[in-house]
Amino acid sequence: MQFKSMVLSNVEVSPGYFRMRMTAPQELLESSPGQFLMLKVVDAIDPLLRRPFGLFDVGTFAPEYAGCGTQCYTEILYKVVGKGTKMLSALHHGDLVDLLTPLGKGFAAGPAGEEKVLVGGGIGLAPLYYLAKDLVMKGEKVRLFAGGRNRDDILCITEFERLGVETYVSTDDGTLGERGLVTQVLEQHLGSGMRIFACGPTPMLKAVALMAQSHGVPCQVSMEAGMACGVGACLGCVLKGANHTDETPDYRCVCKDGPVFDSFELQWS
Ligand SMILES: Cc1cc2nc3c(=O)[nH]c(=O)nc-3n(C[C@H](O)[C@H](O)[C@H](O)COP(=O)(O)OP(=O)(O)OC[C@H]3O[C@@H](n4cnc5c(N)ncnc54)[C@H](O)[C@@H]3O)c2cc1C
Ligand code: FES
Repeated sequence: MQFKSMVLSNVEVSPGYFRMRMTAPQELLESSPGQFLMLKVVDAIDPLLRRPFGLFDVGTFAPEYAGCGTQCYTEILYKVVGKGTKMLSALHHGDLVDLLTPLGKGFAAGPAGEEKVLVGGGIGLAPLYYLAKDLVMKGEKVRLFAGGRNRDDILCITEFERLGVETYVSTDDGTLGERGLVTQVLEQHLGSGMRIFACGPTPMLKAVALMAQSHGVPCQVSMEAGMACGVGACLGCVLKGANHTDETPDYRCVCKDGPVFDSFELQWS
């Protein structure tokens, strides 16, 4: 669905990273963790295109705050990297944005009783909070492995901890948590009865996917690609599927077939 939404807050949670809350219609409560939105600042013509962001959270206000006609909100967590995100970071309470959401295919929770292992690299943590909330509500045991280059890239960990999620933090320079790559920490804890949900830079996702395959652990990855339409019309966001060859092309649209894929669906070489 497409709708106009009002910015409720837009806070810098770490240098260069913002968390923005916006009003949303009740129907968005039917969205799945891992789905995304396409956002455009109302009346802005530059940049013209919408920008994709994972749903960081979707929820309802407590009754005492729900007086002004809107009862539902959504949030995004974003990193300022260029024109569009710089423009977003300047928005304030009361500004309007145009949203197209929920889009794409989200995470599949898998059978009850497994240990659910979330792996986030930097801003890749964004879609994992909504997932953690959903899994915890279903009574699942959830662990989070969060990695970044330095402490500034480790975002919103206390929010995960408040849900009761066991968290493991690592940074390349050792300024927070263990020194090293998130995949090194993950490997020490991998075992049977687990299911992995990962989002982050492609090299990290490749390492997680291959590690999961070698341990026989099911793994879903949330992928990124440049997006123009967000709905499968422009073919601007394709990735190679596992069976792709020059003779028999096998392409997947990140916006429509993903952004969440089973790791074995994609070609990692
Ligand atoms: C499904 C999906 C979900 C996403 N979720 C989030 C999220 O929750 N939080 C978040 O901060 N970002 C997320 N992104 C990335 C986000 O869409 C881009 O950072 C944003 O569009 C950049 O817009 P810009 O105008 O600021 O930068 P631009 O001026 O368009 O680009 C600036 C720089 O960023 C690079 N860039 C642009 N888009 C991407 C991309 N998709 N992946 C990697 N590099 C890119 C460009 O190559 C360029 O170097 C997501 C992307 C996808 C496809
Ligand atoms: S963004 Fe247009 S097809 Fe995916």
